[in-house]
Amino acid sequence: MNIKEFQAEQTRLLEQAAQERRATALAHPNIALIKYWGNENDELRLPANPSLSMNLGDLQTVTTVTFDDNLTGDVLTINKVKFSGPALKRVADSLDLVRNLAGISSPARIDSESNVPVGSGIASSSAAFAALSLAATAAAGLDLDEAGLSRLARRGSGSASRSVPGGYCEWVTGTDQTSVATSIAPPGHWDLRDVVVVVSQEHKEVGSSGGHPLATTSSLQAARVMGVPARLAACRAALLARDLAVMGPIIEEDAVIMHAVMMSSQPPLYYWTPTTLALILAAQQWRTEGIPVYFTIDAGPNVHLICEVTHAEFVETKARKIAGVQAVISSKPGGPARLVG
Ligand code: PMV
Repeated sequence: MNIKEFQAEQTRLLEQAAQERRATALAHPNIALIKYWGNENDELRLPANPSLSMNLGDLQTVTTVTFDDNLTGDVLTINKVKFSGPALKRVADSLDLVRNLAGISSPARIDSESNVPVGSGIASSSAAFAALSLAATAAAGLDLDEAGLSRLARRGSGSASRSVPGGYCEWVTGTDQTSVATSIAPPGHWDLRDVVVVVSQEHKEVGSSGGHPLATTSSLQAARVMGVPARLAACRAALLARDLAVMGPIIEEDAVIMHAVMMSSQPPLYYWTPTTLALILAAQQWRTEGIPVYFTIDAGPNVHLICEVTHAEFVETKARKIAGVQAVISSKPGGPARLVG
């Protein structure tokens, strides 16, 4: 499908959604190459620093939102399991923003299917809130542009703002109006792989929503935030030039500085396990053997090994052999959030 056909199909699905009060959207999670950690404003999720990411095309969340006046409240199912409590509240809060925009008060049924392991350090919330924002606005009869959707997704989960545009995305700081993500390069720009090495699938004690407010309790956070613009500019330039030898050390430094903030906050957040460190050291070793592979780590113990497609099989095979590794999932760059039904 070319761009014109894609846009025509999106318009058709949008019209159908408004009539049926029901829409299905697909979004990919993303891996940050330059990290977001800490907010200027926790409620609006206005980030302390800009960030840069790659959408993961082999992982996805597909969400259907149906507004239905016969319901007595919002009903949420994820992978066929019904959720209440904090998970439902977070989704209902996002839907309230959509209901306010559309001037409606109807409850909704939200059915979400995902192949992203929940709580595994792969930012599943990024795909979840990007898909939810698109499905909910379409079902409510709204036609938001990319910036409007990115803004709305940001309110559910900061990183979700970066799952709205396609490919490689940059999310800027600013006000509620201006802090949105845009694509700096399409998925086909560079055939990188994120080889996600799952070390633990247990749910984290303190996830990113609970972690962001702790960032300023670390005396390192101010220095981290101050250093981001230079790292981001260098990372963006290397990404646009497809220069992994330059980009790799920058993403590793950025991830390690974020974890230094986490480990030195009050209370401290230690996400790494011995297997996490084993993988960091293994990546260094593989580089001495001539394999250009670099790590990044989100708010969890799992390690994302970034390399070009030609080296992905080597990295996958080697990673599987490391003691403590539970699974390895490899992903290519992915496209934007889109309507699929
Ligand atoms: O979007 P959140 O609130 O889940 O925060 C994501 C934080 C990190 O994954 C650690 C970094 C990032 O930029 O994605």
